[in-house]
Amino acid sequence: MQKEKALIVDDDPIVRDILADILSGLCGLNIVTASNGLEALEHLKRDHYDIIFTDLNMPKLGGMDFLKESVRIYPQIPVVMITGLSTVDVAVAAMKEGASDFIVKPFQVDKVVAVTKRVIGEKKLLKQVINESKNDDTIKRINAELFRKLQEISIFQEVSLQLDGIYNNKEIYDKIIEMAIKLIPVKGAFFGVIEADHLKIVSSVGFKLNKIKIEGSFLENTIKNKIYNIISCNGINPFEGLTIHDQILLMPFTLRDETFALLGLCGKEDKTAFAEDEIAVVHTFAKKAALRIENNALYEVFYNNLINTLKSLVISIEARDSYTKQHSERVAIYSLQIADVFGLSDEDKDAIRFGGYLHDIGKIGVRDTILLKPGELTEEEMAEIRLHPIKGDEIVKPIRFFPKERELIRYHHERFDGNGYPDGLKEHEIPLIVRILSVADAYDAMTSERPYRAPRTHQYTLKELTKNMGLQFDPEVVKAFLKTPVGRGNRL
Ligand SMILES: [Fe+2]
Repeated sequence: MQKEKALIVDDDPIVRDILADILSGLCGLNIVTASNGLEALEHLKRDHYDIIFTDLNMPKLGGMDFLKESVRIYPQIPVVMITGLSTVDVAVAAMKEGASDFIVKPFQVDKVVAVTKRVIGEKKLLKQVINESKNDDTIKRINAELFRKLQEISIFQEVSLQLDGIYNNKEIYDKIIEMAIKLIPVKGAFFGVIEADHLKIVSSVGFKLNKIKIEGSFLENTIKNKIYNIISCNGINPFEGLTIHDQILLMPFTLRDETFALLGLCGKEDKTAFAEDEIAVVHTFAKKAALRIENNALYEVFYNNLINTLKSLVISIEARDSYTKQHSERVAIYSLQIADVFGLSDEDKDAIRFGGYLHDIGKIGVRDTILLKPGELTEEEMAEIRLHPIKGDEIVKPIRFFPKERELIRYHHERFDGNGYPDGLKEHEIPLIVRILSVADAYDAMTSERPYRAPRTHQYTLKELTKNMGLQFDPEVVKAFLKTPVGRGNRL
């Protein structure tokens, strides 16, 4: 059987070589390459091809213009766009111009193979149908069906690309609005989640809305019937204080046959009515995004369970040693006060909140006889205690989404002058959140009662901290601590 032939168009010889290897080795294609759109058009004039892969940014004739030319002259040859992650939106736009699909650099071999096989398979199917049927309507119908499927797949891919890796609900809601407006350019949009008898707007563009009572409102039918609705706003004004003259498309987000959220798209930019194919696109988008939100909800349950398990571990350590009771919690609070002076991000503060709480978790692996020993420790016993940052690091290592918390656990006994343990890091090699935690940790240790001494006074402790600026502690962090409520002498 004759092999299918592919034309690879890319100005980067390495990309051409890698793709050629994948396509010839794993898809059994004959390969011809070109380094820009003009050269590719010359090849197309001379020979027959079954599939084209083209880069976006190339000299002479770029990918988008080449695609348009190729689709115009050779509509039967499918074109797959090659794109970087940052230009995926351009590749999706290319699909509206007739590209069959896109593949993302750096290549994931299985994805390239899957896309290639699917595109070639669909082309063959279409050819077969055309040969078998002289009926124009059948061809049109199948063509439309193929186009719809392709569009559906591309939306699914796009949602995955944009939403995977985001675990914060607010970010997901904002992304949903952003993507919906990209799919159908509109003047305003809102996304709300259902809370009891209200729709709570969690993200929007062009609207200032908080909550809408569902019963009796324009949302009621869509939410109850779980089917999209188009409202014409001529003369009617569904939003208090807002004047809308255009159509609103309401698309319910459902899971297990329940509406849990609603997307509203208001007033198309081109002032036309919502067309059937546009509604289908938004419907597909809502289906995929709803699944993504469900995954996130599952993730939150899992995350909260995990946090509770780790917290109970900390409590069990503290229960062994009544003197350190609530030490971890206070350290987290003091650290957050210092973080505020530095104006750290919410992400850093989350890490401090949780990592501060967990920082001594490795003590679970230290024997009671050593941890609770009232007298002085031998060198051996000291060495065992000093292992707790490493042991703690090992406990949380399998949890891939705690990188900053891991740093807090592993490095909280490092010193600014490099004489700490376990890794002997110094100065700015130690992350700022860790340098913050070590000041908070020391302050709380000194002001707490120990078996062998009474608690130190606030003034005494501040002097100790200041004396150790540049030695144990980062001077900037100690200065920041002095500005916090606790540093100024306020008790919790
Ligand atoms: Fe510690």
